[in-house]
Amino acid sequence: MRALVSKTPGGPDTLELTELPTPELTKDGLLINIHACGVNFPDSLIIQDRYQFKPPRPFAPGAEISGVVAEVGSEVSGWTVGDHVVATIPHGGYAEQIVVPAEAAFPVPKDRDLDQAAGLLLVYATTYHALADRGDLKEGETLLVLGAAGGVGLAAVELGKAMGARVVAAVSSEEKAQAAKNAGADETLIYGRQPFDKDQSKQLAKQFKQAVGPNGADVIYDPVGGDYCEPALRACAWEGRYLVVGFPAGIPTPPLNLTLLKGCDIRGVFWGAHAARDPKANRESIDKLMTMWSDGKINPLVSKTWPLEQGGEAIQWLIDRKAIGKVVVTTK
Ligand SMILES: NC(=O)c1ccc[n+]([C@@H]2O[C@H](COP(=O)([O-])OP(=O)(O)OC[C@H]3O[C@@H](n4cnc5c(N)ncnc54)[C@H](OP(=O)(O)O)[C@@H]3O)[C@@H](O)[C@H]2O)c1
Repeated sequence: MRALVSKTPGGPDTLELTELPTPELTKDGLLINIHACGVNFPDSLIIQDRYQFKPPRPFAPGAEISGVVAEVGSEVSGWTVGDHVVATIPHGGYAEQIVVPAEAAFPVPKDRDLDQAAGLLLVYATTYHALADRGDLKEGETLLVLGAAGGVGLAAVELGKAMGARVVAAVSSEEKAQAAKNAGADETLIYGRQPFDKDQSKQLAKQFKQAVGPNGADVIYDPVGGDYCEPALRACAWEGRYLVVGFPAGIPTPPLNLTLLKGCDIRGVFWGAHAARDPKANRESIDKLMTMWSDGKINPLVSKTWPLEQGGEAIQWLIDRKAIGKVVVTTK
C-alpha cells in the first residue's frame, strides 16, 4: 500500500510517498481500506516532533480516517466486511490501509459521504465534549467562538446553534466570516492579525464586548490562543466559562485577576483524554453526532480535498491559515 510518511523531522515538504506492506490484522482489530483522512493542526506538529506524542519513524501522520472494512479480527463482533467506518488514531491516516482496534471505530450510515465522514469525528466530538460537558452551554446563552471558520471553530458554530445558543463568530477575514454565517452564526466580527500591543489588545476587547452584548459571553470557545485570549476573556460574562481548546497562535498567559473580577472559570478541554477515560460517554456523544448528521442538524463542511501524494500541501494550507471548515486527503 502507499503511505505518505515522515522520515526526518521537518515541515510538510519533508513527507515522502512510500510503498509499505499491508498492515497485519490483529484479533481485536479491523483492517480498513482508507477512503479519506481528515487534516488537523496537530499533523503539522507531529511531523516536526513538536507534538505531545513522538512516534518512531518512519510514520504517516493523520489522526482520523473514513473508509470501508476490508477484514475483521477473529475476536471482533458487530462488524462485517464492506461496512463504512470512521476512526481516530494516534497517526497513520495518510495511507491506503490501516488496522484499528474495533473499539476505536464507529459505524457510518451507508448514505453518508465518506469525505465528509473523514472530517467529522475529531472536530465535532471535541466540540460536543467542550460545549456540553465542559462548557455546560445552555439554550439562550451567548457563545463566542474564536477561529470560527476553522475545523473545530466551524463545528462550534454549528453545534452551538443546534444547542440553542446565540453564536458570535470571530474570524480573521471576510471570506471566513461568510463561512461562519453560512454555518448559522448570528453575528460575526473580523479581528486583526497578532501581535497586538496594549492599545490594540484593548481595542479588540472592545470589539468582542460590543459583539457579545452588555452581559458578556456565557461561554467562550478558544481554539486559537495567542494574543486573542486576553481580549476575549475580558468579554466573558459573570460566571462565564472560558474553554481552552488549542493554541495555533501560541500558548497565552492571561492575567488571572480577570477570573476574579468576572467570577468566571477557565476550563481545559482535552477530548482524546476524555474519550480514553470515559469511552462509554464518548460513544454516546458520537452516536448523537451521527444522528444529528443524518437528521441534517449538522453538515460538516469539506472545503478542499487533496490526493494522498499531495497531503503535505493540505497540511501547509492549515499552517498558512487558509483552511475553511475541514480539508481532507483522499486515497482515490
Ligand atoms: N483540545 C482538544 O481536545 C482538541 C481537539 C482537536 C483540535 N484541537 C486544537 O484546536 C486547534 C485548532 O485545530 P483545527 O484543526 O480546527 O485547526 P484549523 O482548522 O487550522 O483552525 C485553527 C484556526 O485558528 C486561527 N489561527 C490564528 N492564528 C493562527 C496561526 N498562527 N496558524 C493557524 N491558525 C491560526 C485560524 O482562524 P482565523 O484565521 O480566523 O484566526 C484557524 O482557522 C489546534 O491547536 C488543535 O490542536 C484541540
